[in-house]
Amino acid sequence: MKKVHIKSFGCQMNVYDGQRMADILAGQGYEEVAAPEGADLILLNTCHIRDRAVQKVYTELGKLRDLKNEQKANGQETRIVVAGCVAQAEGAEIQRRQPAVDLVVGPQAYHRLPSLLAEAQRTRVVDTDLPADDKFGYLPAPKPAAIRSRGISAFVTVQEGCDKFCAFCVVPYTRGTEFSRPVAQVLAEIERLADAGVQDVTLIGQNVNAYHGEGPDGRAWGLARLMHRVAEVPGIARIRYTTSHPRDMDDDLIAAHRDLPQVMPFLHLPVQAGSDRILSAMNRKHTADEYRRLIERVRTARPDIALSSDFIVGFPGESEADFAETLRLVEDIGFASSYSFKYSPRPGTPAAELTVQVAPEVMNERLHRLQERIEHHRQAFNHAMVGRTIEVLLERTGRHPGQLAGKSPYLQAVQIETKANQIGDMVKVVIERTGSNSLFGRLAAPEDIAA
Ligand code: 5AD
Ligand code: SF4
Repeated sequence: MKKVHIKSFGCQMNVYDGQRMADILAGQGYEEVAAPEGADLILLNTCHIRDRAVQKVYTELGKLRDLKNEQKANGQETRIVVAGCVAQAEGAEIQRRQPAVDLVVGPQAYHRLPSLLAEAQRTRVVDTDLPADDKFGYLPAPKPAAIRSRGISAFVTVQEGCDKFCAFCVVPYTRGTEFSRPVAQVLAEIERLADAGVQDVTLIGQNVNAYHGEGPDGRAWGLARLMHRVAEVPGIARIRYTTSHPRDMDDDLIAAHRDLPQVMPFLHLPVQAGSDRILSAMNRKHTADEYRRLIERVRTARPDIALSSDFIVGFPGESEADFAETLRLVEDIGFASSYSFKYSPRPGTPAAELTVQVAPEVMNERLHRLQERIEHHRQAFNHAMVGRTIEVLLERTGRHPGQLAGKSPYLQAVQIETKANQIGDMVKVVIERTGSNSLFGRLAAPEDIAA
């Protein structure tokens, strides 16, 4: 068998796409390997969201060129493929900067990998066509052994692309306009995953709560309706979805957090900033107070829900007063966790044209202050778990022998000592203490559960 090494950068959709590319290549006689050394095919599945992510790709490609030369000296041909959002955004420019690259394939073209690889044997190839057809219809179903090797949690892309056009974001250009997979196709994929032992699915999309896939009745179904069906798939114990836009959080979706026990009490709902002036400049289409009210409604439906967000500091024109509004929002909501980034101008986006850029040292200082508050709230959320009994789905071996690790309903990593359990068990755990990144607990005794 030939060997392929796939390295994914960036978001969860790239993880999913990387797996689907492995499934396609399995049909071409490729076995997936964990390291690039010795591989016949090396595939970088890239991210374009911030400039740093792009620079990482070129650094990595420099190393791969050296490896390709070394392997050639030993008589082995190595082919290098760049896939993902850098491929889409930069196309042939990638091969100009790094001639060792054989093939550039965008996120909407990778179902054509077999024919593109054949073509790339003769010449350098670039395929960054945006969809004329539904690539998902062409992807081979993963084999049960491949599913099992990936564990009991899986990502399933249900929606791709974005029509929101936030002023800072490249996604609408790299992933294209919104597309939702038909309900039947999504369900068939999830049933297959569940048959091979998957219990925990995360439905993914760049703007997943704008999902509007064609239902069996020929009408467009929203995400809530889709989740009601996913919850009926035997074996699926936990459902999450990401990433959502506040404007697409409809009543049905909020109600699903109340009505469906499989839908986990966790919501990643990026707000980006707390100042209405900046939110408007970002083209986010909502105010900070609208976001606050939305969170109130979500909490009414599911009082214990854990919330998470993304933040950008230093968007062009952000003043100290604007930034203070972001800090105020963080205090008001009390997020269980969040990601925060310095603004990075992206070529082709409207914000990149704005001239009033924030100085790098100001951005650094704001990011530092924001992260300090985010961390404070994360720790507080984790500490509040101590003494509570929660359900943990065991997903992997823990850090030390005798430990198993899994996730809480709130997406926290939990480690427990247990000899009586195995991966795939749903167990009740009493949380005893918190570490910097995990919770630690013990199996609950009957009296803990009664309490
Ligand atoms: N600069 C910094 N952060 C960005 N994000 C998206 N575009 C940019 C950018 N140009 C962040 C947003 C988004 C997350 C995935 O990445 O916070 O929600
Ligand atoms: Fe980008 Fe998300 Fe805004 Fe869409 S909603 S443009 S993916 S930040």
